[in-house]
Amino acid sequence: MLKIEKISKSFKALPVLEDISFEIKKGDFVAVMGPSGSGKSTLLYSISGMDSISAGQVLFEGVSISTMQEAELSRFRLTKMGFVFQNAQMLKNLSIFDNIILPGLVAKKESAEAIRKRASALMKRMEIEEIQSRDIREVSGGQLQRASICRAMINNPAMLFLDEPTGALNSGATDQVLAILEDLNREGMTVMTVTHDQRVAARAKKVIYIRDGQIAASKEFAVRADRERELDDWLREIV
Ligand SMILES: Nc1ncnc2c1ncn2[C@@H]1O[C@H](COP(=O)(O)OP(=O)(O)OP(=O)(O)O)[C@@H](O)[C@H]1O
Ligand SMILES: [Mg+2]
Repeated sequence: MLKIEKISKSFKALPVLEDISFEIKKGDFVAVMGPSGSGKSTLLYSISGMDSISAGQVLFEGVSISTMQEAELSRFRLTKMGFVFQNAQMLKNLSIFDNIILPGLVAKKESAEAIRKRASALMKRMEIEEIQSRDIREVSGGQLQRASICRAMINNPAMLFLDEPTGALNSGATDQVLAILEDLNREGMTVMTVTHDQRVAARAKKVIYIRDGQIAASKEFAVRADRERELDDWLREIV
């Protein structure tokens, strides 16, 4: 799905990512952990083409996105990738529903009718149908974050990228978001999330630990009940 080959990135002369390589396979669920400032968000933005890289290349489904021109790259991101951020980043003057369908209308892959239908189905599935016509200030953080997952899914992306999706949520809302991510992944969605939260990382099948812009360690976890414990032991060893 995604092949990252020796990528590096600097801001001005300051190196932030150094010589990072790894692969994400279709159906993977990868969590990126690491201290604040270690380069997690920069990594997510660099490999999804939201940010440029200084060296190396990123192949998405075999296509090099590192050499794409901006217009081609935006279209690629819009139709193939879904994004969720810590603070939902929805437009204030649109309803929740209109925020969700917006990337669909921009992509024009399908009729407006089909996009509306899918938005309704996604909202139903995330159990937030009742907030459709509300303003983004009239919903809870958990509802807003579930709405941003609906928005990220509206163009049927090949992969979901999330940066601290539960960073602003209480534990109940975190559980709901995690259940959704796990469900989507079980159905085949490839997921990569940056997180500080061990509970989030414990749902992943693979955890990559970044320190000072480099991969300090990574580990695959079998999906089973005591995974949280296993992750905790591993983090104690490497942190
Ligand atoms: N636009 C930018 N210009 C200059 N430096 C930047 C920029 N964005 C990030 N950095 C620097 O790059 C480093 C990595 O930042 P990044 O946001 O990727 O960290 P992070 O691991 O996501 O941290 P956090 O857990 O706090 O979100 C930091 O030292 C940061 O100050
Ligand atoms: Mg960050």
